[in-house]
Amino acid sequence: MSHPAGNPSGHPSGRAGRGLEGRLALVTGGTRGIGNAIARRLLEAGARVVITGRDSAGAEKAAQELVQSGGECRGVALDVSRFDDVQETVKGLEKELGPFAILVNNAGITRDDVVMRMKEEDWDAVLSTNLKGSFACAKAVIRGMMKQRWGRIISVTSIVGGMGNIGQANYVAAKAGAEGLTRTLAREYASRGITANAVAPGFIDTDMTRAMEEAARARLMGQIPMERFGQPEDVAGAVVFLASDEAAYITGQVLHVNGGMLM
Ligand code: NAI
Repeated sequence: MSHPAGNPSGHPSGRAGRGLEGRLALVTGGTRGIGNAIARRLLEAGARVVITGRDSAGAEKAAQELVQSGGECRGVALDVSRFDDVQETVKGLEKELGPFAILVNNAGITRDDVVMRMKEEDWDAVLSTNLKGSFACAKAVIRGMMKQRWGRIISVTSIVGGMGNIGQANYVAAKAGAEGLTRTLAREYASRGITANAVAPGFIDTDMTRAMEEAARARLMGQIPMERFGQPEDVAGAVVFLASDEAAYITGQVLHVNGGMLM
C-alpha cells in the first residue's frame, strides 16, 4: 500500500500524534543503558516495544519497569549472535504481534586488548554480537517491513568506528562494518519505504564506560567540548527522531551524538 493521497507522512492515522502510535519496535539489548532509554522514548512516542536481553528473567523485569508509565512492552530472551534463534524468535513474535516496523540494533559488547594480545575468541565474540547480530536482526524483520512499505532500521554504532581506538580492533571493525551494512540496507530497501541509518554515540555514561579506568575517563573528558559524557537519553532522542515520519527522507546516514568530540 502506498501513501494515501494527502498523507505524505505515510502514518496510518495521517496525523503526527506522538509520532509512532501503532508501530511495533524491536530494541536489542534493551534491558539497561542506551537500549533501555531508547525503549522508554519509543514507548513515550506511542510505539509498542519488544526488548531483548540475554536472559528472560532480566528482560521481563526490565519490560515491567518500562511499562510503569504506560504503553505496551514485552521482554524476551534473545542472544543476537545466534543467527537461527534470531530468525525463529522474530517469526514467533510477528505471528503474535504483527510485523515489526522499527528495528534498533543496540546490543553490543566489548572485549578490549591491543591486536598483538587480542584472542581469536574475543574477536569472534564482538563481531558475532555487534555485527552479525545486526545482520541477523535486519534480515529477520525486512520481509514484514516490505509488506507494510514502511520500516526503520537504526543501528547504534560508535564514534570509534570512524576514528579507530587503541585496544578495540574488534569493536571498531564491528562498528565500522555496521555502518557499511546500514548504507547497503539503505540502498536495497529505499524504494520500499524502509530507511536504514546509524546513530554513533561518543562516550555515554553507562555500565560500558563505567568499567573504564578513572584516568582514561579523565583523558577522554578533556577531548569533549561539552565537558561531560553523554546520557543514554541523548542517544535515545536521536534514535526516536530517525524512527519518526519526520526522518522519512533520511537514509544511509550516520548521526553523531558526541558532545562535539568529533567534528
Ligand atoms: P551496556 O553494556 O550497558 O548494555 C548492552 C546491552 O546489550 C545489554 O542490555 C546487554 O544485555 C545486551 N547484549 C549484549 N550482548 C548481547 C547479545 N549477544 N544478545 C542480546 N543482547 C546482548 O551498553 P551500552 O553502553 O548501553 O551500549 C549500548 C550500545 O551502544 C552498544 O552497541 C554499544 O556498543 C554502543 N555504544 C555505547 C557507548 C558508550 O559510551 N556507552 C558509546 C558508543 C556506542
